[in-house]
Amino acid sequence: MFDRAIVRLLPAVPRPVVRKLSERYIAGPELKDAREAVRSLNAEGKAATIDVLGEEIRTEEEAAAIVRAYLDVFADIERCGLDSGVSVKVTGLGLKLGYELCRDNLRAVVEDAASRGNFVRIDMEDSSTTDDTLRLYRELREEAHDNIGVVLQAMLRRTASDIAALRDLKPSVRLCKGIYLEPADIAYQEYEAVRASYIRALEALLDAGSYVGIATHDEWLLGEAGRIVVERQLGRDEYEFQMLLGVRPRRGEQLVREGHRLRIYVPFGRHWYEYSLRRLQENPSIAGYVATDTLGRLLGKNGA
Ligand code: FDA
Repeated sequence: MFDRAIVRLLPAVPRPVVRKLSERYIAGPELKDAREAVRSLNAEGKAATIDVLGEEIRTEEEAAAIVRAYLDVFADIERCGLDSGVSVKVTGLGLKLGYELCRDNLRAVVEDAASRGNFVRIDMEDSSTTDDTLRLYRELREEAHDNIGVVLQAMLRRTASDIAALRDLKPSVRLCKGIYLEPADIAYQEYEAVRASYIRALEALLDAGSYVGIATHDEWLLGEAGRIVVERQLGRDEYEFQMLLGVRPRRGEQLVREGHRLRIYVPFGRHWYEYSLRRLQENPSIAGYVATDTLGRLLGKNGA
């Protein structure tokens, strides 16, 4: 209960404190920071997906700036020979400003990626964007853009039917639990129900011949997914595990040692706040950190 209360209080925590607490989850403000993070990950045998932070955009110009930032990322990946794709958010590409605008922006990113042999994963945001995100994915695939993948969230009750509806596209899917708070009529609320849904979705995607990015740090899910890929005798290039920068890095190293492909999600940029809050909300130790920090500030020890 204490943990949940602290998590609800997080938005009230001063930004400098949030920034300090979330440093481990973000490569830094600049492209060079992402480049260095990806270089180190590649040296450890891990692939990456770079995310330009910026979901809180308000104007077409801001969305265009995000597009340009991705084009810079592709050029940098190519120039430096990095093993990395990118992840994009449709809100960052202007979905809330207009569907067509967002589709044009997404197409520009995907076409530039294709010209450099790169790949674009469309992150899945809250449920108000699910229909549009899946529609954008389908429209671009039907325009013969194959260097593109999508994300499905195990917590959403609709995911089983989304998998069935996408089957004809044999989609590349990142499967995650889902981070956004969603109401009970559309999303499983209990921890075990989300886990069970995750395994059902993983089996259904593999049955459909999809390449799955198994995105989780949950020890039980990692074990079950490992068992499933062995049972199905999947080769190393037929699936991958995915983790977030700064979360369970030792466990990631173990996956690599065991011979699995592993991709790390590397966010960078100046718009770090929203992403940081989401990561902190999931960190089991956050209550302790925030309490210590708050106490420190109350006692005038760190003046943040
Ligand atoms: P769970 O939250 O149960 O965590 C399992 C364990 O991992 C915890 O007990 C703890 O030990 C550790 N852990 C998890 N988060 C931590 C943190 N922040 N700090 C410290 N330890 C932590 N969601 C979404 O809605 N749309 C998306 O597009 C994506 N994309 C995405 C990409 C990748 C590569 C990953 C790994 C995850 C996402 N997610 C996402 C987030 C995902 O939906 C989910 O919220 C988180 O992965 C946490 O869920 P777990 O499966 O890790 O389990």
